[in-house]
Amino acid sequence: MRELLFLNQYLKKYQVWMFWGLLCVLLTNIFSAMVPILVRLGLDEALNQSIWISGNADAPIVGLVFQSALFFALAILLIAIVRGVFMYTMRQTLVVVSRKVEYDIKNLLFDKYQGLGEGFYRKNMTGDLLSRMGEDVSNVRMYIGPAIMYFANILFSFIVVIYLMFTVNAHLAFWVLLPLPLLSFSIYHVSKLLNKGNKLIQMQLSLLTASAQETFAGIRIIKSFGMEEAFGQKFNREGEEYKKRSMRLAKINSLFFPLMLLLMGMSTLLVIYLGGKEVEKGRFTPGNLAEFVIYLNMLIWPVASLGWTTALVQKAAASQKRINEFLQVENHQVLEGQPFLFQETILLNQLTFTYEGKSIPALQNINLEIIKGKIIGVTGKTGSGKSTLAQLLAAQYYTNPETQSILIDGVSLAAINIADFRRHLAYVPQDVFLFSETIRDNITFGIEDGKASEESILSAVEAACLDKDISQWPNGLNTVLGERGVTLSGGQKQRVSLARALIKKAELYILDDCLSAIDVKTEKAIIKNIQRWLSNSTTIVISHRIAPLRMASHIVVLDEGRIVAQGSHEYLMANSLYYRNLI
Ligand SMILES: Nc1ncnc2c1ncn2[C@@H]1O[C@H](COP(=O)(O)OP(=O)(O)OP(=O)(O)O)[C@@H](O)[C@H]1O
Ligand SMILES: [Mg+2]
Repeated sequence: MRELLFLNQYLKKYQVWMFWGLLCVLLTNIFSAMVPILVRLGLDEALNQSIWISGNADAPIVGLVFQSALFFALAILLIAIVRGVFMYTMRQTLVVVSRKVEYDIKNLLFDKYQGLGEGFYRKNMTGDLLSRMGEDVSNVRMYIGPAIMYFANILFSFIVVIYLMFTVNAHLAFWVLLPLPLLSFSIYHVSKLLNKGNKLIQMQLSLLTASAQETFAGIRIIKSFGMEEAFGQKFNREGEEYKKRSMRLAKINSLFFPLMLLLMGMSTLLVIYLGGKEVEKGRFTPGNLAEFVIYLNMLIWPVASLGWTTALVQKAAASQKRINEFLQVENHQVLEGQPFLFQETILLNQLTFTYEGKSIPALQNINLEIIKGKIIGVTGKTGSGKSTLAQLLAAQYYTNPETQSILIDGVSLAAINIADFRRHLAYVPQDVFLFSETIRDNITFGIEDGKASEESILSAVEAACLDKDISQWPNGLNTVLGERGVTLSGGQKQRVSLARALIKKAELYILDDCLSAIDVKTEKAIIKNIQRWLSNSTTIVISHRIAPLRMASHIVVLDEGRIVAQGSHEYLMANSLYYRNLI
C-alpha cells in the first residue's frame, strides 16, 4: 500500500474537486436514508387510518388512504430526484478527477521514458514500457476514481444507516448486522479469485494475439514454405488454453452472484423473522419492519463492494509499484556542460569500448584525428566495429566513461552539453527508421521547431536523388508512409533518411553505410551532390564500397575493433594488402 502514497500529490492537486465529490457522496447517503423513514411513516399512517376506518362506517375509505399514500409517494420521488442529482455530481467530480490523474501520469511516464538512456532501453522491452503506461495506469485510475468513491460511500452509508438502525431497535440491529462481515469477506475472496483468473486469461490472450500477429506478419514466408498447417495448429493450441482458462473463470463468476444473493436473502429473512417477533411484542410497528428491510438492502451493496473495492486497491498498489520502478530509474541526461565549439579537431585518444555483458571489446585502442572540414572514411569487414565507432561519436553512449576519450578541441565529449552537441550533429544510422508520417515530415523531422522552407526541402530531396521517386508517389512530398500509406523500397528509405540529415546543414555528419542499398549509378550522383553539400562540414563516411570511400581524404581500416591501416585511398591501395583484399 505504501506505493500508493505516490498518488497523494495528485489528490492534493485536485483537492477542491475531491472535496465536492466526497461531500456529494455524503449528501447522497443522507437523502437515501430518508426513504425508509418515509416508508415507515407512510405505512404506519395507512395502518392507523385503516384501523380508524374499520371503526367508522361512513368514512370515505379509498379517498383518505389514497391521499396520504400519494403524499408519501411524491415525497419519496422528490427525494430520489435530489439524491440522483447528488449522485450524478459525485460521479462527475470523482471520476473526472481519476481521468485527469490518468492523463497526468501518462504524460509523466512518457516524459520519463524519453529522458532515459540507451541502457534502459536495452534492459526493458517495449511491450513492458507500454503495459506500464496503459494497463497499470488504468489500474491506478480505478483506485483514484471508483475505489475512493466506493470507500467513501461505504463509510458514509455505514455511519448513516447503522446509526439509524440502532436508534430504531438496537437489539434487532445487532442480530441483523452480524452476518454482513461474512458476506464482505467471502466477496473479497471471490474477487481475488476473479482477478487471478482474469490475469491468467490476459496472459494467454497476449500469447494468442502474438501468435496471430506473427503469422500474418510473416504470411508470405509461411505460405512459400507451406507451413500453414503448423501455424494453424500452434494457434489452435493457444486458443484451446485460452478457452480452458475462460471457462474456469466463468465457473467462478457464475458462483459469485448466487452466493451474494443467498447471503443477502438470509439477512432479509432474519430481519423479517426477528422483526416480526418484535412487532408481536409491540416493540416495533409494521412500518419499522419495512424500514429495517430497506436499511438492510441499503447496506448490502456497500458491504458487497467492500470486498471488491479492497481487491481494486490491491491491484492498483501492485500496478503503482511497477510504475514507481520506472519513475525511480535514474536519468543520467546531463543538460549542463559546455556549449559545443568545434574549431580544429576531434581526437579519439586510446578509445576502447566493450558492450555491456560482452568480454571482447568492440573497439580497442583507437587513436584517430578528425580535422575540421575533412571527410574521413571508415571501412572494414562486417562486425569490425564501424557502427560502434559511429554510435560513440554520435554520443549514443555519452553516459559511459569511454566518451572521455573523445576530445573535441581538447574538451571531452562527456563535458559538453549534449543537447547542444546534437543540434550540430546529423547522424544517419545504419538501420533506417521512418515514422508513419508524410515524407515531408520525415525529412524535416530534425529541423528545430519543424520550420523548413520549401526550397531547402527540395534541394535536400534533389541532393539525395529522391526527386524522381517523389514525383511518382500519389501525393508527392505529402505521401504518407508506413502501415497507413505507401511502402518504400530499401534504397528509397535510405535516401529519405539521408535527406533528413542533409537538410539539417550540420557541422558534423556521420553517415553509417547509408548508400548500401542504392545502385551504382544513383550512388555516383548522390556522392557528387553530397560532396558539394558537405564542403563546409566535417564528415565520417562508413562504407564497404569504393565510391563513397573515395570522397574521403583519409580512410581508416578496422578489423576486430582495431585500426589495421589508414591513409588515403591511393596510399592504402599501394601499401595495404588488407585494404586491397577488402576492396
Ligand atoms: N548493442 C550491442 N550489444 C552487444 N554487442 C554489440 C552491439 N552492437 C554491436 N555489437 C557487437 O560489436 C561488434 C561490432 O559491431 P558493429 O555493429 O560495430 O560492426 P560493423 O562494423 O558496423 O558491422 P557491419 O558492417 O555489419 O555493419 C560485433 O561483434 C557486434 O556483434
Ligand atoms: Mg555497421
